[in-house]
Amino acid sequence: MDAEHMGDALERVLLTEEEILAGLDRMAREIAADYEGKDVLMVGVLKGAVMVVSDLMRAMPYSVPMDWMAISSYGSGTRSSGVVRILKDLDTDITDRHVLVVEDVIDSGLTLSWILENLELRGAASVEVATLLRKPEAQKVEIDAKYVGFDIPNDFVVGYGLDFDERFRNLRCVGTLAPHMYS
Ligand code: IMP
Ligand code: MG
Repeated sequence: MDAEHMGDALERVLLTEEEILAGLDRMAREIAADYEGKDVLMVGVLKGAVMVVSDLMRAMPYSVPMDWMAISSYGSGTRSSGVVRILKDLDTDITDRHVLVVEDVIDSGLTLSWILENLELRGAASVEVATLLRKPEAQKVEIDAKYVGFDIPNDFVVGYGLDFDERFRNLRCVGTLAPHMYS
C-alpha cells in the first residue's frame, strides 16, 4: 500500500520508497566491499526486517545467504524491555561465520544488544549490525551499528516492515502515525 491508501492514519511520510531503496543501495555497496571474499551470512530479525533483508540482499553484487531469528520481548506496548525469548532460532551453525544482523530499527537497542550477545556466545567469527533506521535519542544501550540507513527522530513509525499492532507492514514508505491512532 501507498501513503494515499492510509487515509488519516498517517501523519507524515518520513522516507519514500525511493529514498529507502537508495539508502539500502548505499549500505549494500559498503557491505559488499567490506565482506568481499569473506562468506557473510545475513541474519534478519522477524518480522520487521523482512523487507530490509529482501531489498538489501538483492542490492548486493554477489551471492549472500540469509537466515532468520524470531524473538519475543517480554514487556508491554510499544516499549521493549530487553528481556528476550527465542521463538525461532537460526537454521545455520554460525561458529566461525561472519554474521551480519539486519534490523528494521534500533530504538532503545535493548533487543539487539541481547541478540548480539547471544550470537557472539556461539563463536561467530564476527558479528556486525546493519539497520535501516536508528533513533539516536531513544537509545538506552550503546549499539555500534556499522551500517545505518537513516537516523530518524524519536517517534513511532510504521511501514516497510514496521508495524503498529501488526498493521501497516506492507506500506511502501516509512511514516509517522497520526496521534488519534494511539487512543
Ligand atoms: P528496541 O529493543 O527498543 O531497540 O526495539 C526493537 C524492536 O521494537 C524493533 O526491532 C521493532 O520491531 C520495534 N520498534 C521499535 N521502534 C519502533 C517503531 O517506531 N515502529 C515500529 N516498531 C518499532
Ligand atoms: Mg524488529
